[in-house]
Amino acid sequence: MLIDVKNLFKIYNEGEEAEVRALDGVSVGIDRGEFVAIIGASGSGKSTLMNILGCLDIPTYGDYHLDGLDVTELNDRQLAHVRNKQIGFIFQGYNLIPALNAWENVELPLIYQGVPASRRADQVEEALERVNMADRAKHRPTEMSGGQQQRVAIARAIATRPPIIMADEPTGALDSKTGLHVLEILHSLHADGSTIILITHDNGIAATANRVVRLSDGHIIYDGAREGAFQ
Ligand SMILES: Nc1ncnc2c1ncn2[C@@H]1O[C@H](COP(=O)(O)OP(=O)(O)O)[C@@H](O)[C@H]1O
Ligand SMILES: [Mg+2]
Repeated sequence: MLIDVKNLFKIYNEGEEAEVRALDGVSVGIDRGEFVAIIGASGSGKSTLMNILGCLDIPTYGDYHLDGLDVTELNDRQLAHVRNKQIGFIFQGYNLIPALNAWENVELPLIYQGVPASRRADQVEEALERVNMADRAKHRPTEMSGGQQQRVAIARAIATRPPIIMADEPTGALDSKTGLHVLEILHSLHADGSTIILITHDNGIAATANRVVRLSDGHIIYDGAREGAFQ
């Protein structure tokens, strides 16, 4: 099992009046090569779960093994290493660096990983071509549409060739046609072997995933085939 989570809790302000159980005993396993949609209302715990699965945050309690590694035991530096190697992130707000052009944004994670300049150029080129943005390499985020920015953000996520892509509401800020284009790119990455975890509150988008996990108040209330997810 690639992602193996058992009885995960994330409790904010534990023991205080303002205590929030954002994750309240979540167990889930995801195999290599799956395309899983995580759905649920606003505040149900989706982003909290993604942040923990993506090693951006640690749980209050519970077990998490990623590719056999107990990530709850790791320090910040080790977590960053696992994250860089295993996971590409895509966010609703693209999170591109405004002062850098598309090429430089995509190159950044490769610089962090210490990839030599000669290989960086190839990987940036390949990633931008993959999302059909090679002809916009010199454009800055303010010179691109939302859909174009998200495609660059996808290129950045895949430039390091991580086995797992985690996308938190990647189509949330886009019109439906542009959103579908972004979704198609995720499906083509899946077809090429990536494991995709897609967070969305949009049932139509979730219904393109093979497997749907529904969260409600920090609990998983459905985990199974899309066919049963929307009844
Ligand atoms: N840093 C935080 N401090 C306190 N509460 C938080 C924090 N982050 C999220 N929460 C709360 O945890 C719950 C789950 O939030 P979140 O995971 O962002 O949900 P979703 O992504 O499904 O909208 C919400 O009630 C939210 O207000
Ligand atoms: Mg969220």
